[in-house]
Amino acid sequence: MPANPFLDPDLVRGNLYRTGDRLAERTRALREAKVAGRDAAEVIADLLARRISPGAVVLDIGCGRGTTTLRIAARLRPGRLIAVDASVALLDTLRTRLAEAGAVGSVIAANFHHMPLPDEVANAAVAAFCLYHSPTPAVAVAEISRCLRPGGVAVLVTKSLDSYTELDQLLQAADLDPDAARRPSLYESFHSGNLLGLAAIHLTVLDVLHEQHLFEFADATHLARYLATTPKYRIHPTGGPADLSAILRERLPAPPYLTRSTVSYALAARL
Ligand SMILES: C[S@@+](CC[C@H](N)C(=O)[O-])C[C@H]1O[C@@H](n2cnc3c(N)ncnc32)[C@H](O)[C@@H]1O
Repeated sequence: MPANPFLDPDLVRGNLYRTGDRLAERTRALREAKVAGRDAAEVIADLLARRISPGAVVLDIGCGRGTTTLRIAARLRPGRLIAVDASVALLDTLRTRLAEAGAVGSVIAANFHHMPLPDEVANAAVAAFCLYHSPTPAVAVAEISRCLRPGGVAVLVTKSLDSYTELDQLLQAADLDPDAARRPSLYESFHSGNLLGLAAIHLTVLDVLHEQHLFEFADATHLARYLATTPKYRIHPTGGPADLSAILRERLPAPPYLTRSTVSYALAARL
């Protein structure tokens, strides 16, 4: 297994996003644990609301199951909403969710390094929690810039390198993954610290926000749901979340288990 699973194309295309189940469970466990930090989709919609006019064409790149796409559809009601992702299964899920919400949007299965979209097609683009899957995020940012009209804006969103490191220490303390803290951050290619620099290569950065998020896992079962769906860990002995939860209960101090992450947003324009 490579040092950073988020940068392994086989894993990203395969085990991580071939179906939406793993992503949905990881997201749910994290959302239930959150005790501080604004909803990222809401912050993205706020940033775009001040910048786009009715009828705008908006791209949601690396849209996944569409958490951000659905919020953009509901809050901004763009003239055209186009969601792009490499995972056909996740795009199917998004299509269903858009239909259930009565929202209008189209989906395109594509690699965000080479999008089958014309130059200058969009007034706005979002790339949330996805560019850290690229070993060359500047190439993806160049592609986003190409698709924006002059004056168009992009919101690029990522997390800090030290996100969730408290969990590495818990796994080490439980002797379940003693090397976790020595492995690179999942966010090493695109993170809070290099976001501004990478955005500025092809766009003009208007604003950068960093927001601290705090998570409190209520008990071992809740923590196991997150750990079992996070690709960073090489947990031994392996087993399902139920086995993991039993071991964590036995080896860790009493809950709750706390961790943090900084979520960073760059608002940038193609001038
Ligand atoms: C964590 S999910 C994104 C979540 C979503 N943006 C949101 O706000 O809820 C990361 C997504 O990036 C997509 N992805 C990873 N590499 C990609 C690539 N090269 N081209 C297009 N999509 C990619 C994955 O398929 C996955 O759906």
